[in-house]
Amino acid sequence: IAAGEKVIHPTGSEVTQQDRARAKGHRGGVFWLTGLSGSGKSTLARATEVALFAEGVDVTVLDGDTLRAGLCKDLGFSEADRTENVRRAAEVARILRDSGQVVLVALISPLLSDRALARQILGEDFAEIFVDADLATCEQRDPKGLYAAARSGKISGFTGIDAPYEPPLNPALHLKTSAGSVESETKTLASFITKSVTLS
Ligand code: PPS
Repeated sequence: IAAGEKVIHPTGSEVTQQDRARAKGHRGGVFWLTGLSGSGKSTLARATEVALFAEGVDVTVLDGDTLRAGLCKDLGFSEADRTENVRRAAEVARILRDSGQVVLVALISPLLSDRALARQILGEDFAEIFVDADLATCEQRDPKGLYAAARSGKISGFTGIDAPYEPPLNPALHLKTSAGSVESETKTLASFITKSVTLS
């Protein structure tokens, strides 16, 4: 062992993915919701969680604001911190998915490169969902008053105002939440997920 070399031995599991899927009646999967603040990621993730749970799916939501209250408490909104935020969320999602769960991740995750990192960590059984509401709509909704704070200079580096948002180039699902209702978007997302994780 060379000096300074990391000595770690990640272990696998004796329980196979097939065993887990058979026990739960569905496969695991990660559904990564990206979009501007106020686009409806959390609302949609929570409503979809309720709908899937009612159908017997083992489902969990990993939400940006919630992760930032605990696991990611030490992170701010610089590019480096957002990258680390995405990396941690992806690693947690991987553990949950590999235990057979359906994981809905709701993170702005504004950069293409960060979402590429998430895809790299998660490999297959990862689907990018674009929760798309235009900036004007998000700013009008402004549920937390953050757009107003960003416009008046009280906060800086706010996504869409003075920090970038790079839309997905080829999302698995594109939901336009300025136009549709929460109910109809939830149905669309829940049925997309059900199709993806149902055992054939
Ligand atoms: S990221 O970019 O993926 O790391 O962001 P995320 O972890 O999803 O956290 C986004 C929520 O943090 C609040 N907030 C900000 N968002 C963007 N930019 C800045 N500067 C910022 N400061 C605080 C905001 O409530 C976001 O929540 P959502 O649910 O997206 O509105």
